[in-house]
Amino acid sequence: MAKIKKIVAREILDSRGHPTIEVFVQLDDEAIGIFSPPSGISVGKSEALEVRDRDPARYAGLGVLKNLEVIVTVIAPRLMGLDAKEQAQIDGILINIDGTGNKAKLGSNTTLALSGAIVEAQAASEKKPPYLYVSQLLGKTDKAFAIPTPMFNILNGGKHGSGNLDFQEFMVVPPKANPYSKNLQIGVECYYSLKETLKSHSASTLVGDEGGYAPNLYSNMDALKIIEEAVNKAAYRLGLDVFLSLDVAASSILQGSSYRIKDKPVPLTSNDFIDFYITLNEQYHLLSLEDPLEENDWDGWKTLMTKLGGETLIVGDDLIATNPERLQKAISQKACNSIVVKPNQIGTITEALKVVKLAKENKFKIIVSHRSGETNDDFIADFAVGVEADYVKFGAPARGERVAKYNRLLEIEHELS
Ligand code: PGA
Ligand code: ZN
Repeated sequence: MAKIKKIVAREILDSRGHPTIEVFVQLDDEAIGIFSPPSGISVGKSEALEVRDRDPARYAGLGVLKNLEVIVTVIAPRLMGLDAKEQAQIDGILINIDGTGNKAKLGSNTTLALSGAIVEAQAASEKKPPYLYVSQLLGKTDKAFAIPTPMFNILNGGKHGSGNLDFQEFMVVPPKANPYSKNLQIGVECYYSLKETLKSHSASTLVGDEGGYAPNLYSNMDALKIIEEAVNKAAYRLGLDVFLSLDVAASSILQGSSYRIKDKPVPLTSNDFIDFYITLNEQYHLLSLEDPLEENDWDGWKTLMTKLGGETLIVGDDLIATNPERLQKAISQKACNSIVVKPNQIGTITEALKVVKLAKENKFKIIVSHRSGETNDDFIADFAVGVEADYVKFGAPARGERVAKYNRLLEIEHELS
């Protein structure tokens, strides 16, 4: 048993240049764990809350110095000397100190920074790769692992893009049956090809927050058409070698009670939007459709599930926000059949694992995801392998903070072989 001996917290920057927390934990057997939480910009209303300084004199109010102070003066004294193996107990202490139900007091950025660093430290203490240790926390006993299939976000719109597309993420997904390294190659070659294709249409190849291109195009359907062209030019076959997925992030494009998208001259009701998806799906046979409707339009989600849920992954991200009660509701209402799991939406590893467990018991497909604001921390790749996720979303296969995760999966694939 190794006890927590030292906790150091620092303010560092994420990929948007926004401050985040880095926690360093050392155990009394000298094992160390370092973790920095990510930060989203397209945030679900039911997510646990981030806490920031709100001091306009520093980093436009985004600093996290107060979080560091709370870690040092309030949290660390409670964790020092505890057995780092007791992840549930440690996370329980964080939840209790916070006491709010949505981490409003400490911030999910504070709690996850500690929770993640302790997982890393204990894995190091047991001389296990983090994915193996995560799988044990989830109760897995065997050592058979597979690398989740990557969903490459090669075109960024919505809140992540500087272009004019409404939908947030246009993704290409290689087949599950391929080895991961082959799939990485396919994703990257589609990404190269998309650049050339956009250039040939005189469209911008500047990139958005997750490294995908962020052009101005006529419509969202046009974007899909251009991706199809890029896939063909890369000599891959859509529907065989590469599938298409969308994260609409529909809550971001709702205006009043209707959706405005470039593809339609008039605002769309929930039912109109569902009809639009049905037509779109006839043409592109989407592998998955994430947050197609606003996060509290449960009736709309149910209708969409009855129409497309048999063939398409209907994915709840903002809908569920890695929250067990929201997941339970989605299960009982048959509102979706897949979940995005982002540990920082709930704020501790133990709670995130509980959500994974419930999702698995109900046969939901699991997509483990980064956030648009990331550091080079690659723990999320281990988390995804450890929970045996079906898919991962780590953005485009470009930019340091994204490839850190894709490269970690390569390393794990190598280890496993
Ligand atoms: P975010 O978006 O990280 O900016 O919140 C990611 C997503 O919606 O999947
Ligand atoms: Zn999403």
